Amino acid sequence: MSEQEKHTRITTASGKPVYDYEDSQTAGPRGPILLQDFFLHEKLAHFNRERIPERVVHAKGSGAYGTFTVTHDITKYTRARVFSEVGKETRVFLRFSTVGGEKGSADSERDPRGFALKFYTEDGNWDLVGNNTPVFFIKDPKKFPDFIHTQKRDPYTNTKSATMVWDFWSLNPESLHQIMILMSDRGTPLSYRHMHGFGSHTFSFINADNERFYVKFHFKTLQGIKNFNDEEATKMKGLDPDQAQRDLVEAIEKGDFPRWAVKVQIMTPQEAANYKWNPFDVTKVWSQKDFPLMDVGVLELNENPDNYFAHVEQAAFAPAHIVDGISFSPDKMLQGRILGYPDAQRYRLGANYEQIPVNRCPFATNNYQRDGAMRVDGNGGSKPNYFPNSFDTSVADEKYREPAEDLGQNVVADWYDRNGVGENDHYTQPGDLFRLMTPDEQRATISNIIGAMNGISGPKRTEIINRQLCHFFRADMGLGMAIAQGLGVDIAQHTGTLQPN
Ligand code: HEM
Repeated sequence: MSEQEKHTRITTASGKPVYDYEDSQTAGPRGPILLQDFFLHEKLAHFNRERIPERVVHAKGSGAYGTFTVTHDITKYTRARVFSEVGKETRVFLRFSTVGGEKGSADSERDPRGFALKFYTEDGNWDLVGNNTPVFFIKDPKKFPDFIHTQKRDPYTNTKSATMVWDFWSLNPESLHQIMILMSDRGTPLSYRHMHGFGSHTFSFINADNERFYVKFHFKTLQGIKNFNDEEATKMKGLDPDQAQRDLVEAIEKGDFPRWAVKVQIMTPQEAANYKWNPFDVTKVWSQKDFPLMDVGVLELNENPDNYFAHVEQAAFAPAHIVDGISFSPDKMLQGRILGYPDAQRYRLGANYEQIPVNRCPFATNNYQRDGAMRVDGNGGSKPNYFPNSFDTSVADEKYREPAEDLGQNVVADWYDRNGVGENDHYTQPGDLFRLMTPDEQRATISNIIGAMNGISGPKRTEIINRQLCHFFRADMGLGMAIAQGLGVDIAQHTGTLQPN
């Protein structure tokens, strides 16, 4: 077969040219189909295997390749080579997503948006798997499956249930901060281009002197924040459920590359030990007055993947993927996620998912893991498959050892209830957020909350509403009053159950 023919001839998966693509081989013109029509079997059998499990959360998403460029020197905090010099460019892949809906659900749902980034760095792949919000609903990974069950379908009605959602939130007041963001118009961004991104967790930076700094990552949209209001978002679900996907592809196609300013907040271990909030609690932010944003670089998306399934669906991001100079923190949720993602991906994509091109590290990796389904990288060839051995020269290199982390009482235990501000203050930060909003933003948030809580039904409706109202009152009296009024709750009748503090 000539080179030209190789590109134009239809073939079986093993390469045999196909001479009739549409008609099956039969015994005579009207006869039954012959067993020897292997291409028919191959085609039907492959079709039957086209679906893989969708992500258990964040199933609906959109992705693009791009570039991260360093604009400011932060090498005193980290030795990660992705930040090694101003002007340095690193290729990235970014996947946006909604959280609770299935793969075919609408892009304009009220939901946090995923902001998952893979940096293909010279130290290996670094994944920052965050959201468009700086905080999260819960702070212990043990609660995650229960929380997500309430965001998905009711096991009996097979519909989304405001009752489950608010029941869980009202019983887990640490969710209030994230609820306030979700119920504002930021819960329905106009597009993926018009929202910020956050690493959300606290991570570590480690510098060339092996010193540790705690860090939070921020991605500020340079397109400006733009949101749908509740009515517009609901309308868009019907008009174009794939509106955010379409927006991203079209913007990149016409060269209108979306960009984000990349910034960090830095905290020393000493400051962490003395901060009034637990800096490793993902339901809290670090005040930008206390820890100002520092400029780092610019992120730009400039290349649509040429095939959605190959790149976006098969992408596997994991908070476990760090590189030298970047590390974890004692954040409990982060610790749970280190385990969760690669486990999900081994199930969703297979044991060798790291070899799929979108997930591949820019250089050949080196270890003694072998075999498994779909091993396609040569499997280590004839090299030894055990360590230590007398044949190769591979080493576990001591120079990559991280500095010890002080988990003594001054770092862990002291945060609890220091100055009355501690693990169980779920109200100050959400209240401050509400008070920071403009009157219009406050009105929209209140109206969105009332609309959402009006969906609570059944015999527990009053109990759930009252329990959640207590949380809003504790955050801000005005907020609690406005929601109670909107829901038709008679405050006077509930003085026993609706204590603001
Ligand atoms: C996706 C688990 C918390 C952001 C996923 C997936 C799992 C998961 C299993 C699907 C992974 C895949 O199949 O590729 C968990 C667990 C959590 C947790 C166990 C808590 C302990 C969070 C938090 C954030 C977050 C706190 C953000 C701050 C995301 C994003 C994706 C995702 C953005 C989609 C990644 C992609 O685009 O492929 N999560 N998650 N998750 N999660 Fe989480």
